[in-house]
Amino acid sequence: MARFSDAFLDELRSRVSLEEIVSEYVPLKQKGRRFWGCCPFHNEKTPSFSVDSESQLYYCFGCHKGGTVINFVMELERMDFQEAVKYLAERAHMELPEAGPREKSTFNSAQERERIYEANVIAARYFHSMLWTDEGSEALSYLYKRGLNDSDIRRFGLGASPRGRDGLIRHLQEQGFEAPLLKKAGLAVERDGRFADMFRGRVIFPIINAQGKVLGFGGRAMGDAQPKYLNTPDTPVFNKRQGLYALNFAKKERDVGHMVLVEGYMDTVSLRKYGVRGVVATLGTALTQEQARLIKRYVPEVWISYDGDSAGQKAALRALEIFDEIDGLTARVIDYPGGQDPDDFVRAQGLAGFERLKRYDAAEYRMLRAADDLDLTNQDGMTQYALRCCEILKKVKNPVEMENHLRRLVQQTGYDREILLRQIGISQASAPKTYERRPRPAKAERADDVCLAERVLLTLLSEGAIPPETVREEDFSTDVHRRAAKWLLEGKQAAAFVETIEDAEERSAAMQSLNYAPLPPDHEGRMNLAQTSLRTIRQSRLRARMAEIENEIKTADPARKAELYTQMQAIMEALED
Ligand code: GTP
Ligand code: MN
Repeated sequence: MARFSDAFLDELRSRVSLEEIVSEYVPLKQKGRRFWGCCPFHNEKTPSFSVDSESQLYYCFGCHKGGTVINFVMELERMDFQEAVKYLAERAHMELPEAGPREKSTFNSAQERERIYEANVIAARYFHSMLWTDEGSEALSYLYKRGLNDSDIRRFGLGASPRGRDGLIRHLQEQGFEAPLLKKAGLAVERDGRFADMFRGRVIFPIINAQGKVLGFGGRAMGDAQPKYLNTPDTPVFNKRQGLYALNFAKKERDVGHMVLVEGYMDTVSLRKYGVRGVVATLGTALTQEQARLIKRYVPEVWISYDGDSAGQKAALRALEIFDEIDGLTARVIDYPGGQDPDDFVRAQGLAGFERLKRYDAAEYRMLRAADDLDLTNQDGMTQYALRCCEILKKVKNPVEMENHLRRLVQQTGYDREILLRQIGISQASAPKTYERRPRPAKAERADDVCLAERVLLTLLSEGAIPPETVREEDFSTDVHRRAAKWLLEGKQAAAFVETIEDAEERSAAMQSLNYAPLPPDHEGRMNLAQTSLRTIRQSRLRARMAEIENEIKTADPARKAELYTQMQAIMEALED
């Protein structure tokens, strides 16, 4: 974080509009100086997420996430501080400050990544434009044959790589790109000291990330040429284990509430063409943990929508294992009939057909698969099946879901419910525990009051609603509150303070304190609230001091005793005030 000066960051924050950036992710409605919408960080139906257009801070009253535009971009685009600043600076057309000598090497590699992105964009345009030339005509008719029209082709930026040896490389070299860089970008291969195009005679699917950068390409052979799909190898900007195809679209579709995960580029394009939203694909590898976490960043639920053949079914079971490890993400599975893949299916059945498909929950799908290699018409097969299902059900935590699965299993297998429960390892006794609510001690309640009062004051201060001389730094009890108060009393911006906090939890606490709600709308109401809050804080301080004195008096010598009594007198008077 050290790399950017405060002045630079202040300028950056003032040049980009937080509400504008936020509304790219969630629709916002203005009420006074705040904009409101549904929180992108947790699932909700009524808006408790707000953007303060003056302080340029966002805050969710539900989950307490909050921060500046930089924090927002870091969180939602999974960038680190440097990347987020860079991204925002680009949008604001601000030049980044020169890197110091120590950062030269990272600066160089950052520059190289930038060059690779540039080369990739040019390559994508080149492939796309080739479709409507002689060299791309075969690819164009291939795409038509697969049911796509020109507008689909444009929407996904599909293209054709000519069969020639080095058409793309020459095109890029003419624009100043060196062959070794193109090799690094995965656009060129080197053979016997000569460079040739990586993709030749293929249909091209550009892979674009959530920030709209072209990371690489998938290239499908048109005939039986091998490999069927050729993907960009790992490069400084692309790692097939970390990205998802069509994430650039899916990131704008959080409102769908889930993503549909498919295996292929064509499946993605085809489902989307028919109006299925939230579709993304892995990039030619089995699902990775990184990809699962990436999905969770955007939505709370995922539908595994792999090919209906046995390979796809096995892959779906493996994907379920991966999603099991990700808290807060529910995985369901679609089982396409007759071994079809999503592309075949949607072309035959359309969007309505897709919407009718059952979405199995994890245990249900595992139970479905458990029967695959068993003959359920004989007792042995049925016994095996029941045993496998009980193993599967051991993982189910939710009692209501467990009940549903159990009922089905009783029906299917004819086993007694008690027997099944015992096999699963649940006895009747393990009913959910109930928690007693203990009354809170009065002292803790008072501490709560003080904390609330401090939050009210910080909020009022940060909104400039009360004159700074009304409060002092010493009025605040916790470290964060004191630091915040000192900052605000020096006339500095709340946003800059929030950015100084690197720890996400601490930042959330600070945001909570800077966003006490509801505040009275009028000046007089606010001044009154400030007065009451100050009184709460100062009285509590005095009472605490009083308790200390009472304690000390018990053992004090006479001279000290007299001193303490005088102090007590003063405190009593102050309290009566
Ligand atoms: P179409 O045959 O064009 O409909 O493709 P598909 O998506 O139905 O193909 P398939 O189910 O065979 O493959 C699904 C995904 O796996 C593809 O989109 C690729 O990402 C990947 N894939 C398939 N074949 C290959 C291959 O030969 N090499 C690599 N690296 N990836 C492949
Ligand atoms: Mn297919």
